Amino acid sequence: MPLRRYPHTSMAQFHIAPSILSADFSRLGEEVRNVVAAGADWIHFDVMDNHYVPNLTIGPLVCEAIRPHVDVPIDVHLMVRPVDRIVPDFAKAGANTISFHPEGSDHIDRTLSLIRDHGCKAGLVFNPATSLNYLDHVMDKVDLVLIMSVNPGFGGQSFIPEALNKLREARARIDAYRDRTGREIHLEVDGGVKVDNIAEIAAAGADSFVAGSAIFGKHDYKAVIDAMRAELAKVESGAQA
Ligand code: DX5
Ligand code: ZN
Repeated sequence: MPLRRYPHTSMAQFHIAPSILSADFSRLGEEVRNVVAAGADWIHFDVMDNHYVPNLTIGPLVCEAIRPHVDVPIDVHLMVRPVDRIVPDFAKAGANTISFHPEGSDHIDRTLSLIRDHGCKAGLVFNPATSLNYLDHVMDKVDLVLIMSVNPGFGGQSFIPEALNKLREARARIDAYRDRTGREIHLEVDGGVKVDNIAEIAAAGADSFVAGSAIFGKHDYKAVIDAMRAELAKVESGAQA
């Protein structure tokens, strides 16, 4: 399949964000240092509360603990309900971007403002069955749109192909917004991203890629990240996948 070329997307603008959900939690500092040394652009930090999603993971204390180990942005993905109480704690713990699910907040506009007021970039996350219409009236407060390509809660699930259509729709909204305002919004994808599907996902419009098991499940993180970048280079040059 010929891959579409995105004139505004260059390799420098593709971000690979390993999810530490699949890392060895007994040596998290070493794991994040290693994955950044291997070429990671962001660290993706999955926060699950056993209410909004049926799993329980890590909180602000762990964010604060890994912060001194890496210089790259920490991309916090909140799968929690309610959201607002915990936002300042993550900002203090060194998060750079804080994203949440519209279903987790009673007042989406307020939560977006709260995140930005604490000096972080604000992201809105869309589950496979959640409509992008939540973006309609808040684009000015959104710095990142995160499309879930699995149902949230667990690493290691398979990519849901319908996410490609949603990415195309989100890309169209983001491009139209950029043409109108000049402001860039990141388009990130999360769930089941691997070396063998990342090019197709990028061609659908994603510029930032969360990958947990694909990276931390392997011994050689650099080999995986290099292979992902090689696939992304095909998209940039408009080559065949
Ligand atoms: C799922 C998480 C993802 C997950 C990705 O709820 O938000 O970030 O860890 O893991 P993989 O890449 O293994 O699907
Ligand atoms: Zn995530």
